[in-house]
Amino acid sequence: MRDRPIGVFDSGLGGLTVVQALADLLPSEDVVYLGDTARYPYGERSEDEVARFAEAIAHELVARDCKLVVIACNSATAAALDRLRSRIDVPVVGVVEPGLRAAAKATRTGRALVIATKLTAHSGVYERVASQIGIEVSTLACPGFVELVEEGRAEDPATVAIVRERLAPRLTSRIDTLVLGCTHFPLLARPLSEVVGRRTTLVSSADEVAFEVHDLLDRLGWRRTSSARGRLTLLTTGERARFALLAGRFLGARRAEVRTCRITALEGGGEAAGAAAG
Ligand code: DGL
Repeated sequence: MRDRPIGVFDSGLGGLTVVQALADLLPSEDVVYLGDTARYPYGERSEDEVARFAEAIAHELVARDCKLVVIACNSATAAALDRLRSRIDVPVVGVVEPGLRAAAKATRTGRALVIATKLTAHSGVYERVASQIGIEVSTLACPGFVELVEEGRAEDPATVAIVRERLAPRLTSRIDTLVLGCTHFPLLARPLSEVVGRRTTLVSSADEVAFEVHDLLDRLGWRRTSSARGRLTLLTTGERARFALLAGRFLGARRAEVRTCRITALEGGGEAAGAAAG
């Protein structure tokens, strides 16, 4: 088990924020990342549909020998965490609870605003888990934000105005913490910080997820201890060149192999092409 990769998936690029945190904490682990760009944005779809996608992707990652699956997507965590835990043969980690644990550490007022996709906001998952953890949250759906990232518009000057229009009415003085309840949103950190100002702490789930994976692998005796740096393989169900370009922008100097991948259960077929990039 120790030498098998960790499987991570999201609807697109957002889950790479979790991959980066895993690379920092668990540098020798191999990671297979699947971005389902052919079907994004998940947040505009129904829970049933996203649960079906998530299950097919998780099976694909297990078929690729992954020892553990990280659902690096809040929408898919909301729609499918319990289902995957009961149907997948390896441990499954989601992002909602880790994100709220990070928020509980950060907040002084005990009240946080969660920004998320429509699916996640309407599922009520953040309110449910927050009440177990003991903090008060309200959730704001931010349709269109995921597209800002996938279309490479995170740094456009117009993006700040779009973010401001959506968030400003909900930023009351009692809220001191903004939970990025979508793994794409850390890629909007700059416009978000500009809008919320320095008195509000931005919190993402990425580091807490990495700690959870680290502890889980330790408990199972599956943590890789080699001194060599782990390999990162990126799979996309969408257009390879575009995914490689945007992922490369995010990953900086880190090299990764980028391949296209078809999810057999969702459309038939296997792996389509492969080449190195990063
Ligand atoms: N990164 C996904 C999430 O955390 C975005 C889902 C989408 O494609 O809308 O919810």
